[in-house]
Amino acid sequence: MSTTSLITGASSGFGQAIARQLAEAGHRLILLARREARLRQLAEQLPTDCHVLVMDIRDTAAIARLPESLPADFAAVDQLINNAGLALGLEPAHQARLEDWDTMLDTNCKALVHITRAFLPGMVARRRGHVVNMASIAGSYAYPGGNVYGASKAFVQQFSRNLRADLLGTPVRVTCIDPGLAETEFSLVRFHGNAEQADAVYTGTQPLTAEDVAAAVVWALQQPPHVNINQIELMPTGQAWGPLAVHRDSG
Ligand SMILES: NC(=O)c1ccc[n+]([C@@H]2O[C@H](COP(=O)([O-])OP(=O)(O)OC[C@H]3O[C@@H](n4cnc5c(N)ncnc54)[C@H](OP(=O)(O)O)[C@@H]3O)[C@@H](O)[C@H]2O)c1
Repeated sequence: MSTTSLITGASSGFGQAIARQLAEAGHRLILLARREARLRQLAEQLPTDCHVLVMDIRDTAAIARLPESLPADFAAVDQLINNAGLALGLEPAHQARLEDWDTMLDTNCKALVHITRAFLPGMVARRRGHVVNMASIAGSYAYPGGNVYGASKAFVQQFSRNLRADLLGTPVRVTCIDPGLAETEFSLVRFHGNAEQADAVYTGTQPLTAEDVAAAVVWALQQPPHVNINQIELMPTGQAWGPLAVHRDSG
């Protein structure tokens, strides 16, 4: 039986790399994002059947209708890869844009919860399913300017654990992935398209690649059915924790 995987945020970065690796593994794919041309180009390149879904994942009404509106061949989603997400801005909380905070909460938390709720009943009924949630090390370790982004990813981590608690007794698995510094379009988005600021994030470092993160996702998916990988945290070797910050008055 062929496996059907729905990947959100398949037009770029981790999502695109996950799509390539799952296609190589023979999965049938549903590719979801807003940028249609990219999804269609990817679908043409992949050696598997693909269904392209051009939509904004924040459209909760459309998400609720999704399981019933998929073509029959793609309707039984076995693997939901909740990867779409973003960071916006790096300003301290008292200067951050509320609009950016809303976008992060709507995308990273609310949309992820709605799409999970839409597909879980089918997984439980078919006794077959795996939800992979893309969180971040930002959900575990605070950093200046991480404010709402980090909090949204802590939400994803705890939602993943609570899903496990609810799904106990069913064969449906849940995995949370927490990548560290990784070079994708993530920083370009964070800095509202400022390529100079985005490039500076990676200068002089060897960050994780999208392929590194995709390999962790695929490994978790390929474990035998009785094994649930709860959480994977991965960083580049050149990234670690700093000391706690202490402010000292100069005078
Ligand atoms: N790169 C890192 O350092 C890093 C580290 C830890 C965790 N993460 C997390 O990993 C995930 C993937 O990020 P990435 O690094 O691969 O960044 P990316 O290259 O910017 O890709 C983000 C993807 O999310 C999609 N997306 C964003 N908002 C969407 C919306 N409203 N509706 C539908 N799709 C939407 C984008 O597609 P469209 O723009 O075409 O819609 C794109 O495909 C995110 O959840 C991010 O928070 C990234």
